[in-house]
Amino acid sequence: MDGSAVIETTALSRRFGDVTAVDNLALAVRTGEIFGVLGHNGAGKTTTVRLLNGVLAPSAGSMRVLGLDPALDGPQLRLRTGVLTETPSLDERLTARENLAYYAAMYAVPVNDVSRRVGQMLETFDLSTRADDKAGGFSKGMKQRLALARALIHRPELLFLDEPAAGLDPVATRQLHELIQQLSRYEKRTVVICTHNLDEAERLCDRVAVMEKGRLVAIGTPVELRRRLGGALQLVLEVEPAYISTALAVVGRQPKLKAFQEASGVVTVQGAQREQIPALVSALIAASVPVYRVALQEPTLQDVYFSIHGNSVKNEQATSATPSVPSTTEVRQ
Ligand SMILES: Nc1ncnc2c1ncn2[C@@H]1O[C@H](COP(=O)(O)OP(=O)(O)OP(=O)(O)O)[C@@H](O)[C@H]1O
Ligand SMILES: [Mg+2]
Repeated sequence: MDGSAVIETTALSRRFGDVTAVDNLALAVRTGEIFGVLGHNGAGKTTTVRLLNGVLAPSAGSMRVLGLDPALDGPQLRLRTGVLTETPSLDERLTARENLAYYAAMYAVPVNDVSRRVGQMLETFDLSTRADDKAGGFSKGMKQRLALARALIHRPELLFLDEPAAGLDPVATRQLHELIQQLSRYEKRTVVICTHNLDEAERLCDRVAVMEKGRLVAIGTPVELRRRLGGALQLVLEVEPAYISTALAVVGRQPKLKAFQEASGVVTVQGAQREQIPALVSALIAASVPVYRVALQEPTLQDVYFSIHGNSVKNEQATSATPSVPSTTEVRQ
């Protein structure tokens, strides 16, 4: 790993009794990247974040975060990291402004800066009009926005966000994504996001890691993972509905192609290679099938996810058309 790694773990493990929550994890996160951590419930995402912040001690292995050892330098490290936990606890008796000011003081924000910084965060997270209301009376999404503001109040170099969009409405979600991109692109801050939202991961993250039962099973950019693990391309044909059975028969005669009727006049074709498309279209036209649309669908991160978890998730499409992943799949740029 190059010198710009902000997080580096070697054989990191954490056990709780018989459960190995994090198992032999080797991970490197680079400065300024938006790094997604995906995985089923119980995969070990939150435990990893807690280890990296020095809130939990590892059972084995080592790690460096911002050049420090979280297990030894926890308090010093946490002054430089911001964390949005899975279930953030705000002081509900305090107002939004007081919550932020309290955290600013705790995280050593210079006294002269506190009021301005608090005002900025309230503005950024659209809480200015409710700044002097008690947090206890806030809606779920407002509490989440306040918790995000709190995680950012001391301008951390490294931000951990555990399900940041939970409870946010679509507008707030988009604003949050834009903010995360700004932090990464223009301020070179590093953001680690645990998410179940594969769309969010695909659009936002520079790289994603997929965890399963505490282990890292795949890592790479969303594009790399899609190409490597997303399975076969799928072709969607839109034809005149009256000709659907002819279209299915024509596709069926092509080597290795399987066709399914998706909807009226829509046929999906599995197993197609890009090079087969011209011959397929010619065959359809030769059979007098009116073809209105031919679309090649690239696999999504969702297809990747289901291919990785293919054994444990009942998803016919994923299990029939995609490879299984025997061990960590490192896809390098
Ligand atoms: N404090 C704890 N005591 C006992 N077991 C724990 C503790 N924290 C985590 N675990 C166990 O470790 C495993 C991983 O949990 P973790 O919370 O890291 O998963 P996760 O990937 O964040 O899941 P989710 O998507 O549901 O948030 C689970 O089996 C969980 O029960
Ligand atoms: Mg979790």
